[in-house]
Amino acid sequence: MKAHLITYGCQMNEYDTHLVESQLVSFGAAIVDSADEADFILINTCAVRGKPVEKVRSLLGNLRKVKAQRPLVVGMMGCLAQLDEGQQMARKFGVDVLLGPGSLLDIGRALESNERFWGLAFKDDLHDHIPPPPTGKLQAHLTIMRGCDHHCTYCIVPTTRGPQVSRHPDDILRELDTLLTAGVQEVTLLGQNVNAYGVDQGAKLGGYPSFANLLRLVGRSGVRRVKFTTSHPMNFTEDVAAAMADTPAICEYVHLPVQSGSNRVLRRMAREYTREQYLAHIAAIRQHLPHAVLATDIIVGFPGETEEDFQETLSLYDEVGYDSAYMFAYSARPGTPSYKHFDDLPREVKTERLGRLIARQKDWSARLNARKVGTVQEVLLRGDAHDPSFLEGHTRGNHPTVVPKAIGANQPGVYRVRISHATPHMMYGHLIDAEGRDLPELPTLHPEAAALSTPLTMA
Ligand code: SAH
Ligand code: SF4
Ligand code: F3S
Repeated sequence: MKAHLITYGCQMNEYDTHLVESQLVSFGAAIVDSADEADFILINTCAVRGKPVEKVRSLLGNLRKVKAQRPLVVGMMGCLAQLDEGQQMARKFGVDVLLGPGSLLDIGRALESNERFWGLAFKDDLHDHIPPPPTGKLQAHLTIMRGCDHHCTYCIVPTTRGPQVSRHPDDILRELDTLLTAGVQEVTLLGQNVNAYGVDQGAKLGGYPSFANLLRLVGRSGVRRVKFTTSHPMNFTEDVAAAMADTPAICEYVHLPVQSGSNRVLRRMAREYTREQYLAHIAAIRQHLPHAVLATDIIVGFPGETEEDFQETLSLYDEVGYDSAYMFAYSARPGTPSYKHFDDLPREVKTERLGRLIARQKDWSARLNARKVGTVQEVLLRGDAHDPSFLEGHTRGNHPTVVPKAIGANQPGVYRVRISHATPHMMYGHLIDAEGRDLPELPTLHPEAAALSTPLTMA
């Protein structure tokens, strides 16, 4: 069998795709890059906003046409598969296999079955199942928990992924070991709310560490760099910031979604913290980690958001100064409390506010990235950039970075880079040795590239 997987949604979905691919390979399937070659196409879906849902709908429409022409098995997995909305689509477009996020390991049974297979239970078997590491990659994801126990009123995730279940630390450390053996240098711990790690297990025997202590355990395992996402401010403790400061492998990058700067909106979102409490977390982070790189998620145009509320988001933005942000216009999701109880704002209002916020973030990213010019950053270069005389990757603070290849440094790896130029979305630099001297660039360099890598003096 030749299988082709298509992934929408977040990093947890990418992890799950990898998990299912490894299952398929163990059943003798080959994973192919092109849908045309495949006799099994499996879509890993996302339901967090209307857009990814519509993408899946149109893809399924196209696949139904392909199915009319040649033998093809079509499957749908992930968050949308768990919802009525997704199941209706699956029926309409003749989907053969449907697996919710809690039933991914039913993939084998699904393929053996001669009939349509629907798997929708939330099972724990996923937790002790360790997928083989991606071969040759320097970065990997590691899921430490599934599901979510919060009830943010706009969010469909608790419905699609079920209640929070933390993975046993031994399973996490075993998986980490396989990653290290495979040469992985950067591991990102994943969960919808990593700060609440272990909370669902109560005082269970065998002991689940707090998230801060899990970070220390992982950070001392020999892995070069550790990141984590996502943090909910409600469960954030100062000890997490302390663990980051006392464990050098943990990158000084904090993604702490605020969603809105207005207490009125936060209350209607049921976020369970105030603007002031959020800012106190930011202050604690800065106290422990003066060079922390901060990122957030924002939803603009939540039902009932007034211009004054939005101004509070802008002012919180300026108070914090985020290095980067994921910004979204509110998308009403059937099945969420806000869908049921609140009226959506006109699309133009949401789009206009989103535009203003994006412009404000661009200013901040430009300003903060410019301050990095002249500094030395540790960059994980994962491979060739668009122009193959360059390597691309990211810093410990997740800044996308591009450098020209140098003699003795033209392969993926973790390198020291002096930043010479920055835009709001990209940093450019050149490779340096341990003494801070420039490594000689490869002679094949493109002239435009040479111009970019010339150090600019800092103002
Ligand atoms: N568990 C993570 C978020 C997962 S969803 C957390 O709480 O941080 C990722 C982001 O999508 C959220 O942070 C939110 O900003 C956005 N999002 C979720 N539901 C949305 C909706 N209905 N409309 C627009 N954005 C939404
Ligand atoms: Fe959704 Fe809130 Fe849970 Fe995040 S914490 S997944 S936004 S319900
Ligand atoms: Fe989407 Fe599910 Fe992730 S809804 S954002 S794929 S948790």
